[in-house]
Amino acid sequence: MGTWKVGQEHIIDITGLSHEASGVGRVEGRVVFVPETIPGDRVKVRLVHLKERLGYGELIEILVASTDRRRQNCPHAFECGGCQLQHMDYDAQLRWKRQQVADAMERIGKLDAQVRPTLGMDQPYHYRNKAQLPLGKRQGELVMGFFRKGSHDIVDLHICEIQHPLITKLAFAVKRSVQDLSIEPYDEVNHSGVLRHAVIRVSFSEEKLMLILVTRTSDLPAKDELIERLTKDVPELVSVAHNVNPNVTNVILGRESKVIWGERYLMDSIGHLRYAISPGSFFQVNPIQTKVLYDLVREGMQLSGCETIFDLYCGAGTIGLYLASEVKEVIGVETFAAAVEDARYNAELNGIQVAKFHVGKAEDILPKLTNKHETIDGAILDPPRKGCDSSLLETLVTSKVTQICYVSCNPSTLARDLRYFYENGYAIGPVQPVDMFPWTRHVECVVSMSRVKG
Ligand SMILES: C[S@@+](CC[C@H](N)C(=O)[O-])C[C@H]1O[C@@H](n2cnc3c(N)ncnc32)[C@H](O)[C@@H]1O
Repeated sequence: MGTWKVGQEHIIDITGLSHEASGVGRVEGRVVFVPETIPGDRVKVRLVHLKERLGYGELIEILVASTDRRRQNCPHAFECGGCQLQHMDYDAQLRWKRQQVADAMERIGKLDAQVRPTLGMDQPYHYRNKAQLPLGKRQGELVMGFFRKGSHDIVDLHICEIQHPLITKLAFAVKRSVQDLSIEPYDEVNHSGVLRHAVIRVSFSEEKLMLILVTRTSDLPAKDELIERLTKDVPELVSVAHNVNPNVTNVILGRESKVIWGERYLMDSIGHLRYAISPGSFFQVNPIQTKVLYDLVREGMQLSGCETIFDLYCGAGTIGLYLASEVKEVIGVETFAAAVEDARYNAELNGIQVAKFHVGKAEDILPKLTNKHETIDGAILDPPRKGCDSSLLETLVTSKVTQICYVSCNPSTLARDLRYFYENGYAIGPVQPVDMFPWTRHVECVVSMSRVKG
């Protein structure tokens, strides 16, 4: 009775992992979440925050380490909010991600779906093609790196195991030059200073870099000297853009990015296609696993060459264009107008004439288009974390779309939406988790469905 109090210490066994990647154990029958622990650990914890039926503990000591533990290499692990599973063996992570998906299917979807083992990476390091690095000052010193977990304190970047090494090279060069040229970093507390973020993108296929400098002010001080130094220090840099974000906000980019030096686009390839990436556009962050993902979509759609395929939530049109040579027509829908411009440009770049793109919400645009296309042959759904709008699901079911392939970054909303398709006449195929983000809690899934009734 008296031990469920803040400050009390307990020895507990960690038996599960929450979807936030905190270890889960029990104290007097109540669930306790303990960050930095994994199943199989026996640990000493201090209770730090309690609710009636659950609480949060902080790790004091690992008494018995799980066999799935590994020594993390990254000096920023647990500090930086980027990775949550640096202390867990890679194979164990893949098993846990599969289990997360299976649990969502069962508990949320009430589905007896087959969940396949997670497809991981052979080399799960240096896979990210993009980093968004905030700048600031600590005790008068310039810092640049990542926000500390759950805060806006900046962890100064020394090493990153998950981003491409060229990103780290350019990040160090930016920091050096900003320091030498005395460019003021942004001060979030007082909303003063100038340079807020350095956003860096790298093309894996061409080993080239794009830099986007985000400032609070419309002016970028010492612009010419900065560009001269950076391009000399980092010859792989081919494009520099300036983005102005004057707002008090957590959103990184302001409305418009203007290329101020070099090329307008960064070019990269996924499989047989080349894509032009403009400073603000969405592109999958792990290009190696993106090919795995897109190949699964192609397989799942069972194409014969005669289909009209809707690529809903299409971003820069990347999935639809990937399938374009195997269908009659691709129709992409996306809310972000600049991404649609990129999609059109990407179609042209790859000589694809069968693709059309529409700007707007999938749930608003699809009903207008389905009048013209009586039955829909196929739809690819790749929504953000909140899943599909319920009216979109209704439109798809009413139009009796034959084949659907759902790409999801959130197992909970995927399970919810699959339930709807299942109840409305669709057979749910095996769910394939893909590890797009090793060492983090995130998991991507692909699942195909075919209409079996009506
Ligand atoms: C997970 S991304 C998928 C991008 C693309 N399929 C890819 O693989 O690169 C989701 C996209 O959906 C867009 N989006 C969000 N809500 C939308 C909506 N209601 N209708 C259409 N697109 C939407 C976002 O702008 C974003 O580009």
